[in-house]
Amino acid sequence: MNNVTSPVAVVTGASSGLGRAVAREFRRNGYTVIALCRRAPEPETADRFLAVDLTDAEQRARAAATIEQEFGRVDVLVNNAGIGSYATWEELSEEELRREFELDFFAPVELTRLLLPSLEKVRGSIVNISSVAAHVPVGCMGAYNAVKAALRMYSLTLRMEVAGRGIHVLNVCPGRIDTGFSTRALGGRRPPETPGRTSSSAEVFAQKLFRACRKHRRELVYPGWYRPVIWFARHFPGVVERANRRIWRLK
Ligand SMILES: NC(=O)c1ccc[n+]([C@@H]2O[C@H](COP(=O)([O-])OP(=O)(O)OC[C@H]3O[C@@H](n4cnc5c(N)ncnc54)[C@H](OP(=O)(O)O)[C@@H]3O)[C@@H](O)[C@H]2O)c1
Repeated sequence: MNNVTSPVAVVTGASSGLGRAVAREFRRNGYTVIALCRRAPEPETADRFLAVDLTDAEQRARAAATIEQEFGRVDVLVNNAGIGSYATWEELSEEELRREFELDFFAPVELTRLLLPSLEKVRGSIVNISSVAAHVPVGCMGAYNAVKAALRMYSLTLRMEVAGRGIHVLNVCPGRIDTGFSTRALGGRRPPETPGRTSSSAEVFAQKLFRACRKHRRELVYPGWYRPVIWFARHFPGVVERANRRIWRLK
């Protein structure tokens, strides 16, 4: 086992976007960062890279065993890797739907199961990257809404179940942050352009996440202006429906 004296953070999907910013933020704060993804991240992003397709059960198990053997502890697990989709339920193929659920739901649930003993040793934190889409239904993103809502409920219930063992769970709901995420999404549609909404940044997101994790918060919504949007969608679902049908030109 490595003689690590610094806390250890495991970040999935650290090769790009939000995961890269989160990995760098934990490193900046003195953590030893282990990146789990398929492509190698830039050297300044992580101390250790394990090439893993997180949808493959054997690869997940091998990575968890390597982490336990080399580091013997996990102070923070950030389940960040994910993919979206833009299609109506009718358009999205079963294969795409299953791919989305494998990566966005089953992979974090099973990786967490494998790493729970390493987290328990140091009373660590689990951070799941869900989405504002877990709260607000978006036309032509139904599968993404569903999978992120499932992940959010997983976070909230897991939090109750592991609190007694000293493990903290944070659910994170980012709104739209420009990472190229939509260009990599499944499905044949793409979201309409919404100019003037680029105030959010992956770096600020990572700082907020780090602080929320340290304070053992239950849920983080970033940027904060999505909180009234979530409230509005809950109380005025008819308006949200009509707006979505217009935006996506649904008949
Ligand atoms: N950006 C947004 O506006 C936004 C909003 C709400 C929620 N989110 C959520 O935030 C998370 C990160 O999104 P992002 O915008 O940073 O997306 P991104 O730039 O596309 O990054 C996705 C990451 O997931 C990894 N990944 C994809 N498939 C994988 C697999 N099979 N095995 C292992 N790793 C895999 C990718 O690494 P490799 O390709 O190297 O494997 C990549 O590092 C996602 O869960 C997303 O749903 C994003």
